[in-house]
Amino acid sequence: MTTLTDRRHTDTQALAPAQAGDLDIAATRAEFPILSRQVNGRRLVYLDNAATSQKPRAVIRGISRYYEQENANIHRGVHLLSVEATEAHDAARRTVQRFVNAARESEIVFVRGATEAINLVAQTFGRAQVAEGDEVLITAMEHHSNIVPWQMLCEEKRARLRVVPIDDQGELLLDEFEKLIGPRTRLVAVTHVSNALGTVNPVREIIAIAHGHGVPVLVDGAQAAPHFAVDVQDLNCDFYAFSGHKVYGPTGIGVLYGKYTFLDAMPPYQGGGDMISSVTFEKTTYKKPPSKFEAGTPDIAGAIGLGAALDYVTGLGIDRVAAHEHDLLEYATERVGAIPGVRLIGTAAQRAGVLSFIHKDVHPHDLGTILDGEGIAIRAGHHCAQPVMERFCIPATTRASFALYNTRDEIDALVEGIKKAQKVFGQ
Ligand code: ALA
Repeated sequence: MTTLTDRRHTDTQALAPAQAGDLDIAATRAEFPILSRQVNGRRLVYLDNAATSQKPRAVIRGISRYYEQENANIHRGVHLLSVEATEAHDAARRTVQRFVNAARESEIVFVRGATEAINLVAQTFGRAQVAEGDEVLITAMEHHSNIVPWQMLCEEKRARLRVVPIDDQGELLLDEFEKLIGPRTRLVAVTHVSNALGTVNPVREIIAIAHGHGVPVLVDGAQAAPHFAVDVQDLNCDFYAFSGHKVYGPTGIGVLYGKYTFLDAMPPYQGGGDMISSVTFEKTTYKKPPSKFEAGTPDIAGAIGLGAALDYVTGLGIDRVAAHEHDLLEYATERVGAIPGVRLIGTAAQRAGVLSFIHKDVHPHDLGTILDGEGIAIRAGHHCAQPVMERFCIPATTRASFALYNTRDEIDALVEGIKKAQKVFGQ
């Protein structure tokens, strides 16, 4: 019998070594209807993929088909539509399981997004396990969604939030991590890829170190899952969170992966329908994971759309996507980095998906506005990572972020747009 792990390895072997150029980009772009629209009279150059990615027809059709043909509530009806909707929802969970190579389907909890996944762990595992004087260890490059839930928990429990510093390249200081983890550490929460810097953290190594201290690890994979293969068994993470909308799926759906033993031991998150075994006014008993964490009618269409998105990416080959995007990032780094007045923010050896920079004469918001006039969508601001901005002593950056449908031509357009802004604002 072929196990999921076998299949993953076989897939990887079949694709390896993937190279930039393996993807048929013209055909791929044709699958994303929005890419053919005009913005401000120009063709759209969409480089804000770290905020949200565009959706292929497979996702749009999958959601439409559900509403046109199958719409019903799940786990509740004996009628055909409910059975079909339940099957489609269950199939989406299995697709997610395969995508991250989880050992069990029941380790996949559907949530609204990475933010909710992290809050779920903070409010269940965290509230049960963290006590006064304990510590939660995060890093200096976290998105607010992997800071604030822990801060709230620590305030409530009188626990301490500790932060692993980063260097000037935006790399984590592993020596400091090893010094900070200790007998009071109850959890390490770390991003796989920084949304503001693009740094790919050595999470496998971090997890091995944390486990050496008996400390579980949550990985925020929101900026990783769209860009390269994630194998939760290989990483040996205890929790892994990601959002559907950044990996070509719809908004409002995301995933918390948790090792079954953790999920089983954790108290429920929200109370309501579909998460209970029985209810009396005296006592309620709960279902097993994942149902225990999925109170109320879930985002059925969202889960189906997410399943379609992951199938789409898997069909293209995530290793091919990774190779293509790696090429784009190298090209963008070279071309944007060579523009006089530009300083790249985030120059770690391992990066994915994101190029952050500042220009000495042009504020990121002004640059964003000029680029928008050229039909180029980027993000300007602190990227919900204010401590990263503080670390680099800057208020904001301009961020171009890449997806499988982007091209070198679009990076050329970005470079021309920056040069135009430079002419407008330059001294
Ligand atoms: N977290 C998303 C970003 O980095 C919204 O843009």
